Amino acid sequence: MKIAVLPGDGIGTEIVAEAIRVLETLDLRFEMESALVGGAAYEAHGHPLPEATLKLAKEADAVLFGAVGDWKYDKLERSLRPEQAILGLRKNLGLFANFRPAICYEQLVGASSLKPELISGLDILIIRELTGDIYFGQPRGRRTAVDGHFPGAEEAFDTMRYSRPEVERIAHVAFQAARKRSKRVTSVDKANVLETFQFWKDIVTEVGREYPDVELDHMYVDNAAMQLVKAPKKFDVVVTGNMFGDILSDEAAMLTGSIGMLPSASLNASNQGLYEPSHGSAPDIAGKGVANPLATILSAAMMLRFSLNQPEAADRIESAVQSVLAQGLRTADIWSAGTTKVGTREMGDAVVAAITKKTITG
Ligand code: IPM
Ligand code: MG
Repeated sequence: MKIAVLPGDGIGTEIVAEAIRVLETLDLRFEMESALVGGAAYEAHGHPLPEATLKLAKEADAVLFGAVGDWKYDKLERSLRPEQAILGLRKNLGLFANFRPAICYEQLVGASSLKPELISGLDILIIRELTGDIYFGQPRGRRTAVDGHFPGAEEAFDTMRYSRPEVERIAHVAFQAARKRSKRVTSVDKANVLETFQFWKDIVTEVGREYPDVELDHMYVDNAAMQLVKAPKKFDVVVTGNMFGDILSDEAAMLTGSIGMLPSASLNASNQGLYEPSHGSAPDIAGKGVANPLATILSAAMMLRFSLNQPEAADRIESAVQSVLAQGLRTADIWSAGTTKVGTREMGDAVVAAITKKTITG
Protein backbone atom coordinates (compact mmCIF):
# COMPACT_ATOMS: atom_id res chain seq x y z
CA MET A 1 0.00 0.00 0.00
CA LYS A 2 1.70 3.11 -1.24
CA ILE A 3 0.72 6.46 0.25
CA ALA A 4 1.91 9.81 -1.07
CA VAL A 5 2.02 12.23 1.84
CA LEU A 6 1.55 15.88 0.87
CA PRO A 7 1.31 18.01 4.02
CA GLY A 8 1.35 21.39 2.23
CA ASP A 9 1.15 24.70 4.05
CA GLY A 10 0.05 26.27 7.31
CA ILE A 11 -1.36 23.78 9.78
CA GLY A 12 -1.08 21.09 7.07
CA THR A 13 2.27 19.85 8.32
CA GLU A 14 1.14 19.64 11.95
CA ILE A 15 -2.08 17.75 11.35
CA VAL A 16 -0.67 15.36 8.77
CA ALA A 17 2.10 14.44 11.22
CA GLU A 18 -0.56 13.27 13.69
CA ALA A 19 -2.43 11.28 11.04
CA ILE A 20 0.81 9.51 10.15
CA ARG A 21 1.47 8.63 13.77
CA VAL A 22 -2.02 7.16 13.93
CA LEU A 23 -1.45 5.13 10.74
CA GLU A 24 1.86 3.85 12.12
CA THR A 25 0.07 2.60 15.23
CA LEU A 26 -1.96 0.16 13.13
CA ASP A 27 -0.21 -3.09 12.47
CA LEU A 28 -0.28 -2.61 8.72
CA ARG A 29 2.57 -2.13 6.36
CA PHE A 30 2.57 1.10 4.36
CA GLU A 31 5.06 2.61 2.04
CA MET A 32 4.85 6.35 2.71
CA GLU A 33 6.70 9.03 0.83
CA SER A 34 6.35 12.78 1.37
CA ALA A 35 6.66 15.67 -1.05
CA LEU A 36 6.16 19.40 -1.04
CA VAL A 37 2.95 20.91 -2.38
CA GLY A 38 1.30 24.32 -2.46
CA GLY A 39 3.13 27.39 -1.17
CA ALA A 40 5.88 25.22 0.33
CA ALA A 41 6.57 23.73 -3.11
CA TYR A 42 6.44 27.15 -4.73
CA GLU A 43 9.07 28.44 -2.29
CA ALA A 44 11.36 25.47 -2.90
CA HIS A 45 10.79 24.73 -6.59
CA GLY A 46 8.94 27.71 -8.05
CA HIS A 47 5.71 25.77 -8.67
CA PRO A 48 2.85 24.70 -6.35
CA LEU A 49 2.63 21.25 -7.99
CA PRO A 50 6.12 20.23 -9.12
CA GLU A 51 6.47 17.35 -11.58
CA ALA A 52 8.01 15.11 -8.92
CA THR A 53 5.09 15.66 -6.55
CA LEU A 54 2.56 14.91 -9.26
CA LYS A 55 4.46 11.77 -10.25
CA LEU A 56 4.55 10.56 -6.65
CA ALA A 57 0.80 11.15 -6.33
CA LYS A 58 0.03 9.36 -9.59
CA GLU A 59 2.04 6.31 -8.61
CA ALA A 60 0.52 5.98 -5.14
CA ASP A 61 -2.64 4.08 -4.19
CA ALA A 62 -3.71 7.07 -2.17
CA VAL A 63 -2.68 10.62 -1.37
CA LEU A 64 -2.86 11.94 2.17
CA PHE A 65 -3.14 15.69 1.81
CA GLY A 66 -2.95 18.42 4.46
CA ALA A 67 -3.90 21.87 3.22
CA VAL A 68 -2.49 24.56 0.95
CA GLY A 69 -2.56 28.33 0.84
CA ASP A 70 -1.54 31.49 2.58
CA TRP A 71 -2.61 35.08 2.09
CA LYS A 72 0.93 35.97 1.15
CA TYR A 73 0.48 34.19 -2.20
CA ASP A 74 -2.69 36.08 -3.17
CA LYS A 75 -0.73 38.45 -5.39
CA LEU A 76 0.97 35.71 -7.42
CA GLU A 77 -0.18 35.02 -10.94
CA ARG A 78 -3.01 32.46 -10.78
CA SER A 79 -1.08 29.50 -12.19
CA LEU A 80 1.46 29.76 -9.36
CA ARG A 81 -0.94 30.08 -6.44
CA PRO A 82 -1.09 27.22 -3.92
CA GLU A 83 -4.73 26.37 -4.81
CA GLN A 84 -3.54 25.31 -8.26
CA ALA A 85 -1.85 22.33 -6.63
CA ILE A 86 -5.13 20.85 -5.46
CA LEU A 87 -6.91 21.70 -8.71
CA GLY A 88 -4.01 20.19 -10.68
CA LEU A 89 -4.10 16.99 -8.63
CA ARG A 90 -7.85 16.66 -9.14
CA LYS A 91 -7.49 17.17 -12.87
CA ASN A 92 -4.40 15.04 -13.47
CA LEU A 93 -5.58 12.12 -11.35
CA GLY A 94 -9.15 12.39 -12.63
CA LEU A 95 -10.52 12.69 -9.09
CA PHE A 96 -14.09 13.42 -10.11
CA ALA A 97 -16.03 12.18 -7.09
CA ASN A 98 -15.69 14.18 -3.92
CA PHE A 99 -17.25 12.77 -0.74
CA ARG A 100 -17.82 15.31 2.01
CA PRO A 101 -19.67 13.86 4.94
CA ALA A 102 -21.15 16.30 7.45
CA ILE A 103 -21.66 14.39 10.65
CA CYS A 104 -22.61 15.93 13.94
CA TYR A 105 -20.85 14.16 16.77
CA GLU A 106 -23.17 13.88 19.75
CA GLN A 107 -20.54 15.31 22.12
CA LEU A 108 -20.18 18.38 19.92
CA VAL A 109 -23.85 19.26 19.43
CA GLY A 110 -23.33 22.42 21.49
CA ALA A 111 -20.58 23.67 19.16
CA SER A 112 -23.01 24.35 16.29
CA SER A 113 -24.53 27.75 15.71
CA LEU A 114 -27.86 26.00 15.10
CA LYS A 115 -30.21 24.77 17.80
CA PRO A 116 -29.19 21.33 19.10
CA GLU A 117 -32.49 19.72 18.09
CA LEU A 118 -31.91 20.74 14.46
CA ILE A 119 -28.53 19.07 14.18
CA SER A 120 -28.40 16.32 16.78
CA GLY A 121 -27.91 13.09 14.84
CA LEU A 122 -27.13 14.91 11.59
CA ASP A 123 -25.43 12.70 9.01
CA ILE A 124 -25.35 14.11 5.49
CA LEU A 125 -23.12 12.99 2.64
CA ILE A 126 -22.40 15.65 0.05
CA ILE A 127 -21.14 14.23 -3.22
CA ARG A 128 -19.56 16.98 -5.25
CA GLU A 129 -18.51 16.58 -8.88
CA LEU A 130 -14.92 17.73 -8.87
CA THR A 131 -13.37 17.94 -12.33
CA GLY A 132 -15.95 19.77 -14.46
CA ASP A 133 -18.28 22.78 -14.30
CA ILE A 134 -17.17 26.39 -14.28
CA TYR A 135 -13.99 25.41 -12.39
CA PHE A 136 -12.38 23.83 -15.42
CA GLY A 137 -14.58 24.92 -18.34
CA GLN A 138 -12.85 26.59 -21.27
CA PRO A 139 -12.78 29.22 -22.62
CA ARG A 140 -12.09 31.61 -19.78
CA GLY A 141 -10.20 34.82 -19.54
CA ARG A 142 -10.31 38.57 -19.99
CA ARG A 143 -11.06 40.49 -23.15
CA THR A 144 -12.80 43.52 -24.54
CA ALA A 145 -16.54 43.01 -24.75
CA VAL A 146 -18.03 43.03 -28.22
CA ASP A 147 -21.62 42.79 -26.98
CA GLY A 148 -23.50 42.69 -23.66
CA HIS A 149 -24.46 45.72 -21.60
CA PHE A 150 -21.15 47.52 -22.13
CA PRO A 151 -19.64 46.81 -25.56
CA GLY A 152 -16.03 47.97 -25.70
CA ALA A 153 -15.54 47.59 -21.94
CA GLU A 154 -13.02 45.25 -20.32
CA GLU A 155 -14.70 42.00 -19.23
CA ALA A 156 -13.88 38.62 -17.69
CA PHE A 157 -15.61 35.30 -18.37
CA ASP A 158 -15.65 31.63 -17.36
CA THR A 159 -17.50 28.74 -18.93
CA MET A 160 -19.93 26.49 -17.10
CA ARG A 161 -20.14 23.15 -18.88
CA TYR A 162 -20.86 19.49 -18.25
CA SER A 163 -20.76 16.58 -20.65
CA ARG A 164 -23.18 13.66 -20.46
CA PRO A 165 -20.56 11.11 -19.26
CA GLU A 166 -19.42 13.47 -16.51
CA VAL A 167 -22.93 13.81 -15.13
CA GLU A 168 -23.73 10.13 -15.57
CA ARG A 169 -20.72 8.89 -13.64
CA ILE A 170 -21.23 11.20 -10.67
CA ALA A 171 -24.93 10.30 -10.61
CA HIS A 172 -24.02 6.60 -10.43
CA VAL A 173 -21.63 7.33 -7.57
CA ALA A 174 -24.42 9.10 -5.68
CA PHE A 175 -27.05 6.39 -6.22
CA GLN A 176 -24.62 3.67 -5.22
CA ALA A 177 -23.63 5.57 -2.08
CA ALA A 178 -27.31 6.04 -1.24
CA ARG A 179 -27.87 2.28 -1.46
CA LYS A 180 -25.45 1.87 1.42
CA ARG A 181 -27.32 4.50 3.46
CA SER A 182 -30.97 5.46 3.60
CA LYS A 183 -31.60 5.23 -0.15
CA ARG A 184 -32.35 8.87 -0.72
CA VAL A 185 -30.63 11.27 -3.11
CA THR A 186 -31.21 15.00 -3.50
CA SER A 187 -29.75 16.39 -6.70
CA VAL A 188 -29.04 20.11 -6.43
CA ASP A 189 -29.17 22.24 -9.58
CA LYS A 190 -30.18 25.60 -11.00
CA ALA A 191 -32.28 24.22 -13.81
CA ASN A 192 -34.65 27.17 -13.61
CA VAL A 193 -31.94 29.45 -15.02
CA LEU A 194 -28.97 27.51 -16.37
CA GLU A 195 -28.89 25.29 -19.45
CA THR A 196 -26.01 23.29 -17.93
CA PHE A 197 -28.11 22.40 -14.91
CA GLN A 198 -31.29 21.55 -16.84
CA PHE A 199 -29.06 19.06 -18.66
CA TRP A 200 -27.67 17.89 -15.30
CA LYS A 201 -31.17 17.40 -13.91
CA ASP A 202 -32.38 15.49 -16.99
CA ILE A 203 -29.41 13.11 -16.86
CA VAL A 204 -29.60 12.50 -13.11
CA THR A 205 -33.30 11.68 -13.60
CA GLU A 206 -32.44 9.21 -16.38
CA VAL A 207 -29.72 7.50 -14.34
CA GLY A 208 -32.12 7.38 -11.41
CA ARG A 209 -34.39 5.02 -13.36
CA GLU A 210 -31.67 2.39 -13.02
CA TYR A 211 -32.04 2.68 -9.24
CA PRO A 212 -35.77 2.24 -8.60
CA ASP A 213 -35.01 1.42 -4.96
CA VAL A 214 -33.49 4.86 -4.39
CA GLU A 215 -35.74 7.87 -3.92
CA LEU A 216 -34.59 10.88 -5.96
CA ASP A 217 -35.61 14.47 -5.56
CA HIS A 218 -34.35 17.68 -7.11
CA MET A 219 -33.77 21.01 -5.45
CA TYR A 220 -32.62 24.40 -6.70
CA VAL A 221 -29.37 25.46 -5.14
CA ASP A 222 -30.74 28.59 -3.48
CA ASN A 223 -33.47 26.57 -1.81
CA ALA A 224 -30.93 23.90 -0.83
CA ALA A 225 -28.81 26.57 0.88
CA MET A 226 -31.90 27.61 2.82
CA GLN A 227 -33.10 24.10 3.67
CA LEU A 228 -29.65 23.21 4.94
CA VAL A 229 -30.00 25.67 7.79
CA LYS A 230 -33.75 25.26 8.20
CA ALA A 231 -34.09 21.48 8.36
CA PRO A 232 -30.73 19.87 7.60
CA LYS A 233 -31.77 16.42 8.76
CA LYS A 234 -34.14 16.15 5.78
CA PHE A 235 -31.08 15.53 3.61
CA ASP A 236 -29.21 12.28 3.24
CA VAL A 237 -27.07 12.03 0.08
CA VAL A 238 -26.77 15.33 -1.79
CA VAL A 239 -25.23 15.27 -5.27
CA THR A 240 -24.28 18.43 -7.08
CA GLY A 241 -21.85 20.14 -9.43
CA ASN A 242 -18.42 21.45 -8.68
CA MET A 243 -19.22 25.03 -7.74
CA PHE A 244 -22.51 24.47 -5.90
CA GLY A 245 -20.80 21.61 -4.08
CA ASP A 246 -17.95 23.86 -3.02
CA ILE A 247 -20.37 26.30 -1.44
CA LEU A 248 -22.90 23.88 0.05
CA SER A 249 -20.23 21.63 1.54
CA ASP A 250 -18.80 24.50 3.57
CA GLU A 251 -22.29 25.38 4.74
CA ALA A 252 -23.02 21.77 5.67
CA ALA A 253 -19.67 21.46 7.44
CA MET A 254 -20.39 24.42 9.64
CA LEU A 255 -23.79 23.00 10.67
CA THR A 256 -21.87 20.44 12.64
CA GLY A 257 -20.13 23.27 14.48
CA SER A 258 -16.74 21.88 13.76
CA ILE A 259 -15.15 22.01 10.34
CA GLY A 260 -12.07 20.78 12.20
CA MET A 261 -13.75 17.36 12.47
CA LEU A 262 -14.67 16.72 8.85
CA PRO A 263 -12.70 14.50 6.51
CA SER A 264 -13.09 14.23 2.75
CA ALA A 265 -12.24 11.86 -0.06
CA SER A 266 -11.78 12.54 -3.77
CA LEU A 267 -11.84 9.43 -5.92
CA ASN A 268 -11.19 8.54 -9.53
CA ALA A 269 -12.62 5.69 -11.58
CA SER A 270 -10.05 3.22 -10.26
CA ASN A 271 -10.62 4.12 -6.59
CA GLN A 272 -7.35 5.90 -6.30
CA GLY A 273 -8.05 8.74 -3.93
CA LEU A 274 -6.93 11.94 -2.36
CA TYR A 275 -7.84 12.34 1.29
CA GLU A 276 -7.84 15.69 3.02
CA PRO A 277 -9.53 17.52 5.85
CA SER A 278 -12.42 19.73 4.71
CA HIS A 279 -10.84 22.76 6.33
CA GLY A 280 -8.00 24.89 4.97
CA SER A 281 -4.46 25.77 5.95
CA ALA A 282 -5.46 28.26 8.70
CA PRO A 283 -2.28 30.39 8.49
CA ASP A 284 -3.45 32.39 11.54
CA ILE A 285 -2.87 29.44 13.86
CA ALA A 286 -0.10 27.66 11.96
CA GLY A 287 2.94 26.61 13.99
CA LYS A 288 1.17 27.10 17.31
CA GLY A 289 0.35 23.46 17.91
CA VAL A 290 -3.34 24.19 18.51
CA ALA A 291 -4.93 22.96 15.27
CA ASN A 292 -7.43 20.10 15.38
CA PRO A 293 -5.88 17.01 13.76
CA LEU A 294 -9.08 14.94 13.87
CA ALA A 295 -10.35 15.80 10.37
CA THR A 296 -7.03 14.59 8.94
CA ILE A 297 -6.99 11.52 11.15
CA LEU A 298 -10.54 10.73 10.00
CA SER A 299 -9.43 11.34 6.39
CA ALA A 300 -6.79 8.66 6.92
CA ALA A 301 -9.62 6.36 8.04
CA MET A 302 -11.56 7.14 4.85
CA MET A 303 -8.38 6.36 2.90
CA LEU A 304 -8.14 2.94 4.54
CA ARG A 305 -11.76 2.23 3.74
CA PHE A 306 -12.04 3.55 0.15
CA SER A 307 -8.63 3.14 -1.44
CA LEU A 308 -6.69 0.64 0.66
CA ASN A 309 -9.42 -1.89 1.37
CA GLN A 310 -8.81 -1.96 5.13
CA PRO A 311 -12.28 -1.32 6.59
CA GLU A 312 -11.40 -2.77 9.99
CA ALA A 313 -8.45 -0.44 10.42
CA ALA A 314 -10.75 2.44 9.43
CA ASP A 315 -13.25 1.38 12.10
CA ARG A 316 -10.48 1.30 14.70
CA ILE A 317 -9.46 4.86 13.95
CA GLU A 318 -13.05 6.10 13.97
CA SER A 319 -13.87 4.46 17.27
CA ALA A 320 -10.64 5.82 18.77
CA VAL A 321 -11.76 9.32 17.77
CA GLN A 322 -15.16 8.72 19.39
CA SER A 323 -13.39 7.58 22.51
CA VAL A 324 -11.15 10.67 22.84
CA LEU A 325 -14.21 12.86 22.44
CA ALA A 326 -15.97 10.83 25.12
CA GLN A 327 -12.95 11.40 27.37
CA GLY A 328 -13.71 15.11 27.05
CA LEU A 329 -10.58 16.05 25.11
CA ARG A 330 -11.03 19.04 22.80
CA THR A 331 -8.80 21.23 20.67
CA ALA A 332 -9.53 24.96 20.82
CA ASP A 333 -11.93 24.97 17.85
CA ILE A 334 -14.34 22.54 19.54
CA TRP A 335 -13.65 23.40 23.17
CA SER A 336 -16.52 24.25 25.50
CA ALA A 337 -16.78 24.75 29.27
CA GLY A 338 -16.38 21.51 31.20
CA THR A 339 -14.11 19.84 28.65
CA THR A 340 -10.31 19.59 28.58
CA LYS A 341 -8.43 21.74 26.11
CA VAL A 342 -5.55 19.97 24.37
CA GLY A 343 -3.14 20.83 21.55
CA THR A 344 -2.56 19.12 18.21
CA ARG A 345 0.07 16.74 19.49
CA GLU A 346 -1.83 15.76 22.64
CA MET A 347 -4.92 15.03 20.57
CA GLY A 348 -2.82 12.81 18.31
CA ASP A 349 -1.34 11.11 21.38
CA ALA A 350 -4.82 10.43 22.74
CA VAL A 351 -5.99 8.81 19.49
CA VAL A 352 -2.84 6.68 19.35
CA ALA A 353 -3.39 5.66 22.98
CA ALA A 354 -7.04 4.78 22.34
CA ILE A 355 -6.04 2.54 19.42
CA THR A 356 -3.27 0.88 21.40
CA LYS A 357 -5.53 0.27 24.40
CA LYS A 358 -8.22 -1.32 22.23
CA THR A 359 -5.57 -3.52 20.63
CA ILE A 360 -4.36 -4.74 24.00
CA THR A 361 -7.73 -5.25 25.67
CA GLY A 362 -9.34 -6.47 22.43
C1 IPM B 1 -12.32 23.11 -1.56
C2 IPM B 1 -11.55 24.40 -1.71
C3 IPM B 1 -10.96 24.44 -3.12
C4 IPM B 1 -12.13 24.46 -4.09
C5 IPM B 1 -9.99 25.59 -3.40
C6 IPM B 1 -8.87 25.62 -2.39
C7 IPM B 1 -9.44 25.52 -4.79
O1 IPM B 1 -12.36 25.49 -1.44
O2 IPM B 1 -11.70 22.04 -1.71
O3 IPM B 1 -13.51 23.17 -1.29
O4 IPM B 1 -12.67 25.53 -4.40
O5 IPM B 1 -12.51 23.39 -4.55
MG1 MG C 1 -14.28 24.99 -0.72
